[in-house]
Amino acid sequence: MADYEVHEHDVLVVGAGGAGLRAAIEASASGVSVGLVCKSLLGKAHTVMAEGGIAAALANVDAEDGWQTHFRDTMNGGKMLNNWRMAQLHAQEAPDRVRELEQWGAVFDRTREGKILQRAFGGHTWKRLCHVGDRTGLEMIRTLQDRGVHQGIDVYMECAVTRLLKDGQRIAGAFGYFREDGRYVVFKAKAVVLATGGVGRMFPVTSNSWEYTADGHALALRAGADLIDMEFVQFHPTGMVWPPGVRGLLVTEGVRGEGGILRNSAGERFMFKYLPEATRKDYAETEDEAKRWVDAAIAGQKTDARRPPELSTRDNVARSIYLEVKAGRGTPHGGVFLDISYQDAERVKRKLPSMYHQFKELADVDITRQPMEVGPTMHYIMGGVRVDADTGESRVPGLFGAGEVTGGMHGANRLGGNSLSDLIVFGRRAGLGAANYVKALNARPQCSDDEIKAAVEEMEAPFKRTDGKNPYELQRKLHEIMSTYVGIFREEKDLKTGIARLEELTDEVRHAAITGSKTYNPGWHMCHDLTNMMLAAQAIAQSALSRKESRGAHSRLDYPDTDPHLGKVNTSIYLEGGEVKLKQTPLPEMPEELKQLFVKKEATRNA
Ligand code: FUM
Repeated sequence: MADYEVHEHDVLVVGAGGAGLRAAIEASASGVSVGLVCKSLLGKAHTVMAEGGIAAALANVDAEDGWQTHFRDTMNGGKMLNNWRMAQLHAQEAPDRVRELEQWGAVFDRTREGKILQRAFGGHTWKRLCHVGDRTGLEMIRTLQDRGVHQGIDVYMECAVTRLLKDGQRIAGAFGYFREDGRYVVFKAKAVVLATGGVGRMFPVTSNSWEYTADGHALALRAGADLIDMEFVQFHPTGMVWPPGVRGLLVTEGVRGEGGILRNSAGERFMFKYLPEATRKDYAETEDEAKRWVDAAIAGQKTDARRPPELSTRDNVARSIYLEVKAGRGTPHGGVFLDISYQDAERVKRKLPSMYHQFKELADVDITRQPMEVGPTMHYIMGGVRVDADTGESRVPGLFGAGEVTGGMHGANRLGGNSLSDLIVFGRRAGLGAANYVKALNARPQCSDDEIKAAVEEMEAPFKRTDGKNPYELQRKLHEIMSTYVGIFREEKDLKTGIARLEELTDEVRHAAITGSKTYNPGWHMCHDLTNMMLAAQAIAQSALSRKESRGAHSRLDYPDTDPHLGKVNTSIYLEGGEVKLKQTPLPEMPEELKQLFVKKEATRNA
């Protein structure tokens, strides 16, 4: 068998974005030894793509805010499919986690009184997004990285985990390889925290960079955990559409939070006509009312005007843009216009510095003078590993999860800004959960030689095949299938075709072949990444086929209405004999005192 190096830790955290770093910090602070594996270089994570802010009910700008309203907004945004306990913990603990970041050195934008400044975002009743210009995720990563490194966590960079190792039912460690030279590594660990993020690279247009290939979703499934809510895929309404090399790159919701206006090629401010009936009363009815709201927000004043329609939830805005373009009212490059150029140029540069540079340098567009061209980009998956809300533990003893790789927190649709807060609230909880689990274990679980041997053979196999397809050609096929059959709008015949084609492609992926050595060989990496994406793609397509209704980010053309019965169940995915299986499982029952929050609805205006 090939050589491998061995490292031993109590807790191994796989993934070093916001959730992984926060989990590692907490586990290490509670006295256990921690290893942190990053697929990329430390500090490079999708967390930085949450640019516009962290949602936390600090009530610094709108004094009326509180955890109850944040909880209710999150549940309404998720179309009540969220795990209520996760949404409750998230809303209650986010303010403390933000204050903690500040103590650890994060430099937030400030109100005139010196408090953390908060801005508006879609679906949030009050101005709730604590931010650092449009670089909030970056500042979060910088802060957590400093904290983690100084705490003495062992970091393994450019390392991909390909298998979780078990001793009977329990987690015993993980197997992986270093991407630069292909050397194999075994991490012996009593507990593993998955914080691997999302699945974006299975779609052709995405804000996710190359690391996001469903690794944690697949690792968890293969280890015996179950996934929930995989049908709910979030298309962020505003990604760049031009030039082609940066198609999908995120244009922060912060632009709309600061008053950015969406128009079609005919100059029409189209969002007014797409507001869902149930929420219409919360939004401005005329351009004049929307303008009064923006003017008041800029001046830091109260107003009776309602929010602009551009601040509807992401699922709705993304669908609206898609429909405008499809109806022939799109821009020259197939998007719509997002305009903030009517505002003071210096303010735009101060509030949205990254957007200013991004458009200037990549598209030769000056956003203080010209509108941006934007369109939907796959940004986030609401579905993921089912974990206990309080501890982050999955149904596999010793396997924990936090952040985007987990499901439940965001239900059918995530509100913008709720991801950064999710990462720090549940990263901390999973780190603590794993440390407590480790402390209660009597003996270290053992990694078996057979499992390690099988893991090595799996990685070596693509070199031994001679007649298989090139993995990049297979990824292109996957892109075509997902965007054609499992996109923003879905219907039965498309989903069935998509599933059949995914099955054929899975077979081709099993036989993918590469040449060359293990040193700097991206084709080899892609072979493994593809096996993960195929599994998650099947989970998404099959869950989407089984949910015969439209809810949140899941829009069925053949079932356009919401079915109250399906609002009580999660779609669960598990593996049986290597095959993806599906069943419906009941949502946990919300306690009466929380139900009351939806009855006694508080005022939703900035009155
Ligand atoms: O638009 C954004 O800044 C993204 C935020 C998020 O995904 O939470």
